[in-house]
Amino acid sequence: MKPAIAKQIAELLNSENQLVVPYTEQKIMDSKDNYLFEADDNDEVVSCIECKKVQWYQFEVCHLTVNPKHRRNGHGKKILLKAISHSKANRGRVIQCTIREGNDASSGLFLDNGFVKTSTFFYPDSGNDVSVYQKVN
Ligand SMILES: CC(C)(COP(=O)(O)OP(=O)(O)OC[C@H]1O[C@@H](n2cnc3c(N)ncnc32)[C@H](O)[C@@H]1OP(=O)(O)O)[C@@H](O)C(=O)NCCC(=O)NCCS
Repeated sequence: MKPAIAKQIAELLNSENQLVVPYTEQKIMDSKDNYLFEADDNDEVVSCIECKKVQWYQFEVCHLTVNPKHRRNGHGKKILLKAISHSKANRGRVIQCTIREGNDASSGLFLDNGFVKTSTFFYPDSGNDVSVYQKVN
């Protein structure tokens, strides 16, 4: 991953998600192997997702983000399907994410692609109720 891409990913994550701890270019570069992204011909990031193995059987996807200029064009679904394929190819049996309650765009996307809402907890640092969604590969 080029540092310029990592910088854009950090900026997108920070501007488009209600994060408690901000991302930096360096933080993305430090775990660059966990990121999937799509960029256009000008190297502008269109979508990104972090996809990391957390157990031998389980992958966690975090902060799926589509550049606001490119929303509702199927890019979110496309990068989510890539993350699902990546987890399957690496023997993941369960893929999981958390979504804050009220983020209807994100929950709609995950539910439409086979994820099931399994539980909800209160996250004191953000003041949000957060739900866990899982899909068996
Ligand atoms: C959630 C997000 C990634 C969706 O990306 P997108 O490229 O616009 O989504 P897609 O075009 O692939 O849409 C796929 C499906 O998601 C759902 N969806 C997307 N945007 C939606 C919206 N604004 N309201 C309701 N459902 C929505 C729909 O089910 C949609 O299917 P449809 O178009 O057939 O109705 C995007 O809105 C985003 O980056 N949001 C900010 C960051 C964020 O909250 N990320 C989630 C972190 S858990």
